[in-house]
Amino acid sequence: MDKLLIRGPGELSGTVKISGAKNAALPILAGTLLATEPIVVRNIPHLKDVTTIISLLQMMGVQVTIDDQLNVEVDASNVTSREAPYELVRTMRASILVLGPLVARFGEADVSLPGGCAIGARPVNLHIAGLQAMGADVSVENGFIKARARRLKGTHIVFDTVTVTGTENLLMAAVLADGETVLENSAREPEVTDLANFLIELGAKIDGAGSSTIVVQGVEKLGGGDYTVLPDRIEAGTYLVAAAMTGGRIRVVDAAPDTLEAVLIKLREAGATITTGEGWIELDMKGRRPTAVDIRTAPYPAFPTDMQAQFCALNAIADGVSTITETIFENRFQHVLELQRMGADIQLEGNTAIIKGVDRLMAAPVMATDLRASAGLVLAGLAATGETLVDRIYHVDRGYERIEEKLRQVGATIQRVTS
Ligand code: UD1
Repeated sequence: MDKLLIRGPGELSGTVKISGAKNAALPILAGTLLATEPIVVRNIPHLKDVTTIISLLQMMGVQVTIDDQLNVEVDASNVTSREAPYELVRTMRASILVLGPLVARFGEADVSLPGGCAIGARPVNLHIAGLQAMGADVSVENGFIKARARRLKGTHIVFDTVTVTGTENLLMAAVLADGETVLENSAREPEVTDLANFLIELGAKIDGAGSSTIVVQGVEKLGGGDYTVLPDRIEAGTYLVAAAMTGGRIRVVDAAPDTLEAVLIKLREAGATITTGEGWIELDMKGRRPTAVDIRTAPYPAFPTDMQAQFCALNAIADGVSTITETIFENRFQHVLELQRMGADIQLEGNTAIIKGVDRLMAAPVMATDLRASAGLVLAGLAATGETLVDRIYHVDRGYERIEEKLRQVGATIQRVTS
């Protein structure tokens, strides 16, 4: 199993190129199931989760070809299976994103229930309730969500809670439904907007994506298109925090600064000088130690839960005491136990971590438990004194493209070891 060996501390400096957003690429690839003509998707990140969704599409009979520029051409004109099996869904919950497109286009879908998840219960009840409101007959049998419908009907849906993949699933269902669908209390994440723009490119009629009310006029069919996935804001944010924690100076390019406002505000509060331009962000920490910052995660445009672990690591070595409150997922502090093993002074009280910054972290063998927790541990390793060995980095590989190469380019001493 691969591990990352990191020798710290070391100031990061240089330029990192940001990949396409995982959380936009996944719904967009699932959304190709809606179309009857070939589609080219560009800027797809090379990640384990992307490979998983491509395998799922191929199992359904979708033709997928990847050219030498890593552009993906998808042809879903001949779909032979409408089933997402447990073996794939259990490795990636986002497989649930095929549910909406399959029911909308074929009137049937059998998608395995995702089951437990390291960061909390993560139910899909709102995805199911939304499809039922659109007229689908949905049951759960033998661990599968079975959805059937002649043609989905437009309706008015108000989400009980803001859900990103829930909004995406129902948005994709609505584009081929009969009539108008209004999705209220929708997620406003940039990845939802990116999916909507992709669907519009294929001929969908969607208004209001990026706001909490999305209005969709159903169309009979979607055609082909050519679309470029937006940059990954969480990847960009992670490298910026890495530089902030090591007193460094880096520029992330091929990034989208306007999708990272809440994170940039916190980095400025931590003492970093941030400059942005068209497609780039530069952070300069000028050799200084960051100042502790209070964080509260919430749906976009507030501070993203996917950056919470990274800021735990930053606050662990920052000057001062801070609180980090997690409001999205109930069990997303597993990195805290590992950070404590590196000498961090963190106390957990319910969904809040109280962090007293220490002068330095000490290297230790640590274990990744989920995708973003593992990013937090890698960052801690970069700032800690000595050699940190991060185990179970398949979690990192789900969401960060060539993380060790990108970090080495900005001066980190990090290597992948296989044992
Ligand atoms: C997506 C992101 C993930 C991010 C999360 C929150 C993808 C592939 N993943 O996950 O990286 O951390 O948004 O920004 O885009 N909920 C329900 N019922 C439902 C659905 C959700 O109660 O049917 C609850 C969840 O338990 C959670 C909250 O809603 O407490 C938000 O979850 P949601 O936005 O759905 O997360 P994902 O879409 O799974």
